Amino acid sequence: MISSLSNLRSDVVGLETEIQLLDGRPQRYVFLDNAASTPTFRTVLRSVEDFMPWYSGVHRGNGLKAIVATDVFDETHRIAGRFVGADLSANVVLFSKNTTESINQLANHFHFGPDDIVISTVMEHHSNDLPWRKHARVIHVGILPDGSVDLAALKNELTRNRGKVRLVAVSGASNVTGICNPIHEIAEWAHAAGAMIFVDAAQLVAHRPVNILPNDDPGHIDFLAYSAHKMYAPFGVGVLIGPMDFFAKGDPDFVGGGTVSYVGLEEVEWGTLPHKEEAGSPNVTGAVALAQAISLLTSIGMQTIAGHERDLLEYAIGKMKKLNGIKIYGPTADLEHKVGVIPFIVDGMDHALVATILSLEGGIGVRNGNFCAQPYMRKLLNVSPEEEKLKRAARCDNPILPGMVRASLGCYNNEEDVDIFVEMLDRIVRKAYIGEYSIHPVTGLYIAKGYSFDIKKYFQPFHSSVRDEALAS
Ligand SMILES: Cc1ncc(COP(=O)(O)O)c(C=O)c1O
Repeated sequence: MISSLSNLRSDVVGLETEIQLLDGRPQRYVFLDNAASTPTFRTVLRSVEDFMPWYSGVHRGNGLKAIVATDVFDETHRIAGRFVGADLSANVVLFSKNTTESINQLANHFHFGPDDIVISTVMEHHSNDLPWRKHARVIHVGILPDGSVDLAALKNELTRNRGKVRLVAVSGASNVTGICNPIHEIAEWAHAAGAMIFVDAAQLVAHRPVNILPNDDPGHIDFLAYSAHKMYAPFGVGVLIGPMDFFAKGDPDFVGGGTVSYVGLEEVEWGTLPHKEEAGSPNVTGAVALAQAISLLTSIGMQTIAGHERDLLEYAIGKMKKLNGIKIYGPTADLEHKVGVIPFIVDGMDHALVATILSLEGGIGVRNGNFCAQPYMRKLLNVSPEEEKLKRAARCDNPILPGMVRASLGCYNNEEDVDIFVEMLDRIVRKAYIGEYSIHPVTGLYIAKGYSFDIKKYFQPFHSSVRDEALAS
């Protein structure tokens, strides 16, 4: 059983995967895109395999497998809730497929009136912005020059709109800069103004201990969502936690099998929670994986993980600062309130080109672009409204929209991973890379002259006739 960081690496699936670089050399793939999705652990994969002989539909049927699977599935809800300190006598844990779906479900369930206001921030991922815009008037609080949320402005908006604000929706940690918001402090302000708080914890729960606090605590987090695929269990589960009485009221957001206790031709009675809000056959397998990932992270200790990731972040930023021509966004000195996300640009180079060279010549996986946070990205990059208009107009001809490169750390990354990354970055800033790169006229992606890529060399799971037929269609 893995219970410490020192033997965790041997448990990471795919850590030893080799790829071929542009010059033909094999290289261990270095994964620094954990903010997008993490790899899984062997322990998690094994738990799925161990569970499969017991797999069955849940909450219906008296067969022994149905009883076992139902028991396991119910327990996974409790584990997902306890992981963030939820009092399960007052809160319900609802599974979805990811954070985005959970936020949409929550936004839908609020049944906002025409005068209701949601206060959010410019920092948010589109998934914690667009669902609110769809249902309510949203006030986006701005950011300060260091990329953090303007908390004084947030407080002002709460006071100015007292009585109208139903919800404050903020990220626990930014997927662009890694900045962690003071969620309990914001919760106190929201509650004092008669509003509730939702925390998008997609980038937080795998990196920091999270406790939503008792419901009667002024700093209590009313609603919180996270995704299993960002915490080493990429099997399609999202989690939404919130007060039981909130979700017990009204119709379910999706209706159908599993949500009811009685259906007549004229009349329907909704079932109890969480079933009422989990329509259809649920992802039991994904829930098992999530619960196992939580057990593993908990046995290592979230404080230990937070400490390790902070040290590694400091190490990485320290090394990157020594390179010429790199600009890092967000805090680079006081890293106490920042998870391991490093957004940067290289002077005079497109973010897409930098990411392509890191991949083809360094075997390093990072993310580039706007990270589904376009308003935040444009503020950080100081894109003027005029420039924004021009870039939008030029979009068809110029697919390289404003953006950055993002390296993001997981709890299993180590200094060697960072060294490989920074060494390649050093070659890039010194223009010591070997490829000749140009933009493909159709895909808009950078390609290297003479480089060809054959997916079959890496992954060929499907029967060839099925694959050929799919390709031909
Ligand atoms: C801060 C934040 N919120 C929400 C999401 C959406 O998560 P998902 O894609 O799992 O729905 C992401 C994904 O990157 C994110 O980083």
